[in-house]
Amino acid sequence: MGKLHVIDHPLVQHKMTLLRDKDLGSKGFRELVNEITVFLGYEVTRSLPLEEVEVETPVAVTKQKMITGKKVAIAPILRAGLGMVDGILTLVPAAKVGHIGMFRDEETLEPQEYFFKMPNDIEERQVIIVDPMLATGGSALMAIDSLVKRDVDPAHIDFVCLVSAPEGVKTIQDKYPEVDIYTAALDEKLNEHGYIVPGLGDAGDRLFGTL
Ligand code: PRP
Ligand code: URA
Repeated sequence: MGKLHVIDHPLVQHKMTLLRDKDLGSKGFRELVNEITVFLGYEVTRSLPLEEVEVETPVAVTKQKMITGKKVAIAPILRAGLGMVDGILTLVPAAKVGHIGMFRDEETLEPQEYFFKMPNDIEERQVIIVDPMLATGGSALMAIDSLVKRDVDPAHIDFVCLVSAPEGVKTIQDKYPEVDIYTAALDEKLNEHGYIVPGLGDAGDRLFGTL
């Protein structure tokens, strides 16, 4: 059964407060998104399985642990998810990266998929979807649906975001209770335009300076 993990480490809370500030420019926004993602990635990778291996130190031969099992794929939801890729790659440098192109129709708030490209062996991988914002949950749900259609087991999918709304969390959990959700903040609600309150505004625009 998947869980909601709110990563409330003091450094994460501090950096999230800096990130929310409307006067922070794109450079600072990008840097903080990257830094916070490393903290989230640290928690996501906590459940990676270990195996015992033998290693010879300068002093003795010893049995120690190394990561084994499924390989990792990172799946950013474009555009804003791109800002989180390097943070996970810092921790799992050998991960492959697949891209999910999606935007939210501003009127209907329905996601539209325009691109989907994954590594060939995606069904054999632990897939970490990254997107800074989980608002209605429509984009996250469509991304998970697309992966499941390609035979990825929902139990092997993690969804990682910076800010989430209760509505989005419920959307994922209702259909995919197996998916673990990692978020740096669980905010109060959505406003009438589908923006998270208090949130941080439009993550893609702030990241890429297209405001
Ligand atoms: C934002 C965000 C998510 C989506 C969340 O992307 O990065 O993908 O909205 O909203 P939802 O949970 O209601 O679906 P946006 O559509 O603004 O595209 P962009 O990243 O290209 O700016
Ligand atoms: N997408 C964003 O970028 N921000 C929100 O608050 C909601 C959806």
